Amino acid sequence: MFTPTEFGCPHPKQAITVMLLGAGELGKEVAIAFARYGVVVHAVDRYAGAPAHQVADVAHVVDMTDPVALRELITTVQPDVVVPEIEAVATSVLQELEDTTEVTVIPTAQATCLTMDREGIRRLAAAELGLPTSPYAFAGSLPELQEAAADIGFPCVIKPVMSSSGKGQSVAHSAAELPAAWETAQRGGRVTNTRVIVEGFVDFDYEITLLTVKSIDPATGQDATWFCEPIGHQQLDGDYVQSWQPAAMSDAAKEAARSIAARITTALGGRGVFGVELFVAGDDVLFSEVSPRPHDTGMVTMASQRCSEFELHARAILGLPIDVTLTTPGASQVIYGQTTTDMPAFTGLREALAIPESQVRLFGKPSATPRRRMGVALATADTVEQARQRAAEAASCVRPVDTSLEGQAGQ
Ligand SMILES: Nc1ncnc2c1ncn2[C@@H]1O[C@H](COP(=O)(O)OP(=O)(O)OP(=O)(O)O)[C@@H](O)[C@H]1O
Ligand SMILES: [Mg+2]
Repeated sequence: MFTPTEFGCPHPKQAITVMLLGAGELGKEVAIAFARYGVVVHAVDRYAGAPAHQVADVAHVVDMTDPVALRELITTVQPDVVVPEIEAVATSVLQELEDTTEVTVIPTAQATCLTMDREGIRRLAAAELGLPTSPYAFAGSLPELQEAAADIGFPCVIKPVMSSSGKGQSVAHSAAELPAAWETAQRGGRVTNTRVIVEGFVDFDYEITLLTVKSIDPATGQDATWFCEPIGHQQLDGDYVQSWQPAAMSDAAKEAARSIAARITTALGGRGVFGVELFVAGDDVLFSEVSPRPHDTGMVTMASQRCSEFELHARAILGLPIDVTLTTPGASQVIYGQTTTDMPAFTGLREALAIPESQVRLFGKPSATPRRRMGVALATADTVEQARQRAAEAASCVRPVDTSLEGQAGQ
């Protein structure tokens, strides 16, 4: 297991070298966290100028779903640690390199493989571990979907087995809606001819992300588990819009949530931060899914915790002490592109930051679409309600500018 004792050496032979697979906004913060310990960061994405490219030591543009290209890159750079930030990665290569080289894959190659596929993670969670989940079935064709949906009942949720951010997902209220749901899944899945999961629609009171950290307890030298305070969030079309911490929960629900999170993360193994997504109805908690990496709804921890989820990920990977202290109620609100342009910029930062205890993070993505996540507003306050209000207000101040149109007026 990778447990460095010397930090901060920039010389290629001695440096601790980390490769981030995925250079989005979450990777950007992980890169900054590593950089603070003098770790050399290689950031990889499929397009140039991705958020983490802007802050990493070395930027690579590679199609990470291409096993040949991914193997070539990792074997050339020979990082100590590979940290996947996205799901769309040729995970078989990670498994092969974990088996045959010294590289450490975070949390483990098998965990990245299981969690990129709803079938893999659901079978592990429900069938093997017996965790409570929505009723579910899998289907590989429209007739199979029709049979599965009839078993599960309506309404039900149909999702491609490999997709994220709500892509390809729909709710069917009757059998008549299944052909359209099948088509939506085929269009939104990461691979063609995708299988789908059919889940019973859960009428939850609220949903949370329970950030769970697995690392070494310095006191015992043994693997240990830490839980952050629960994060509440609001989703729109499968994508998060606002999150807040702490989410109010009954003691019984919180205990059930922690028990589920401990069991699934222990089964996945390895070290790092996990985002365990849970549905809560009264004191009942259902497992939904888990990210073996920091979670988008966890961006709130940049304001609300002593160590953000990104700092915790870096510490867990490096075997450094873990501190999950919540310092204040906080909230995050997504700033969308709101327009389509290849030269995006934003205005209104003065107004946004005039809101008490607010912060704005702009990701610096090179192009925008209306629903692309381009930044996030963070806020703290004495109460979660006020933090949510402040974050929403700060985000609404930040307005897009299409700079490609500048200078054209009056010509
Ligand atoms: N069975 C269900 N019943 C009710 N709501 C659901 C169900 N499954 C998903 N949802 C809603 O849709 C959201 C997105 O679902 P899910 O997390 O499975 O998709 P995803 O594509 O993995 O999204 P992300 O990558 O953003 O986590 C959930 O957070 C929840 O609000
Ligand atoms: Mg999800």
